[in-house]
Amino acid sequence: MEMVDIIAKKKYGQTLTKAEIEFVIDGYTNGRIPDYQMSAFLMAVYFQGMNSDESTNLAMAMRDSGEVLDLSDIKGVKVDKHSTGGVGDKVSLVLAPLVAHLGAKLAKMSGRGLGHTGGTIDKLEAIPGFNVVLPLEKFKEQVNEIGCSIVGQSGDIAPADKLIYALRDVTATVDSMPLIASSIMSKKLASGADAIVLDVKVGSGAFMKTKEDAIELSKLMVEIGKKAGKKVTAILTSMDEPLGHKIGNSLEIYEAIETLEGKGPEDLTEVVSVITGHLLRDAKVVDTFEDGYKLAYKTLRNGEALNAFYTFVAAQGGDVNFLKNKANLIGDTKVEVIRAKMNGFLEKVDALNFGIAAMKLGAGRMKKEDKIDLLVGLDLHKKIGDDVKIGDPIVTIYHHDKGLQEAKEIIEKSYVVGPKQIKLKLIEETIV
Ligand code: URA
Repeated sequence: MEMVDIIAKKKYGQTLTKAEIEFVIDGYTNGRIPDYQMSAFLMAVYFQGMNSDESTNLAMAMRDSGEVLDLSDIKGVKVDKHSTGGVGDKVSLVLAPLVAHLGAKLAKMSGRGLGHTGGTIDKLEAIPGFNVVLPLEKFKEQVNEIGCSIVGQSGDIAPADKLIYALRDVTATVDSMPLIASSIMSKKLASGADAIVLDVKVGSGAFMKTKEDAIELSKLMVEIGKKAGKKVTAILTSMDEPLGHKIGNSLEIYEAIETLEGKGPEDLTEVVSVITGHLLRDAKVVDTFEDGYKLAYKTLRNGEALNAFYTFVAAQGGDVNFLKNKANLIGDTKVEVIRAKMNGFLEKVDALNFGIAAMKLGAGRMKKEDKIDLLVGLDLHKKIGDDVKIGDPIVTIYHHDKGLQEAKEIIEKSYVVGPKQIKLKLIEETIV
């Protein structure tokens, strides 16, 4: 087999065999195929696409490039969720203890934030002492004992994806459906869960800007998952405004606790309940999604899963007493409030720009190596459709001076107050 022939085959739009795809992935991961040939291959895929069998074979070849976790020591159905990334997305922080409290087993690997999207691992590190690196045995033991664990993705998971993603980044081949779907699914398949819910974000603050693209990506990922023997459900959720009110690492822990106390924003409570409903059905804790959804929603609103969050934090070495005084999560930040200049309703929010404003304050990274400030961020006081009066606070900025002016300028041009009262649709679609 020659790489040049495989590139040519894809250039002419032909279907690649499993063996050819495995040859490409193995050869590139082990340094036999050079960057220039892999770049040409990626561009051929970008223009010619891949069918779902090819995408599945690609995902499985990338999965098999590294360690595939064996979670069989954990009793029962193991569940996982994945978000394609948004602004203010703290779903995993609320969902992990909720799922555990309700009797399912969540074993999750998460990532760090990059650009305007935050990462669960950074958020958890805002809790002093919280350990995001656990040996596999300890990870499995914790899930068995308390029902959940979240750790950083180990370097041994799908190393082919890491190498290929870096090359896609510099060859303008990131935004290809089969490449995105196989990249995400390779990591999920390697992480060992039996059932996975994919939260595919759609809208201004998301990777997928249109509903059509989000549906196409969801269908492909669900198909890859099924062909690889997993139970996969995708839900499309709106990212036309940030999820909840708070953006920034400590601030998102703050809002996750409020949500577990039963005082969370409606949109966050709803998305967590919907994903949990699917997972509880898949884990056979309940018979139907509807039963799971109702149980999850009620449990959140009653504040019954809060202790499970503290148990989860303590199990990974986090300081629960620090969290019990939520003022610690605001810390020594300075505060600046942006107020409304006209009456009406909040009509539009640029979620992407709010994510960028938080990044400018230091909450996120421009480059992978950047250090972040865990305390800074934004608190949005209004959601789309809310009534706004002149002088009402729109956004509180928690800052340490860095990037303040730039963040203020971005925020001022990133929301619209007008006469229309718009109602956003939060859950756009469910794909099974
Ligand atoms: N997230 C991933 O993990 N991979 C992609 O290709 C895009 C988003």
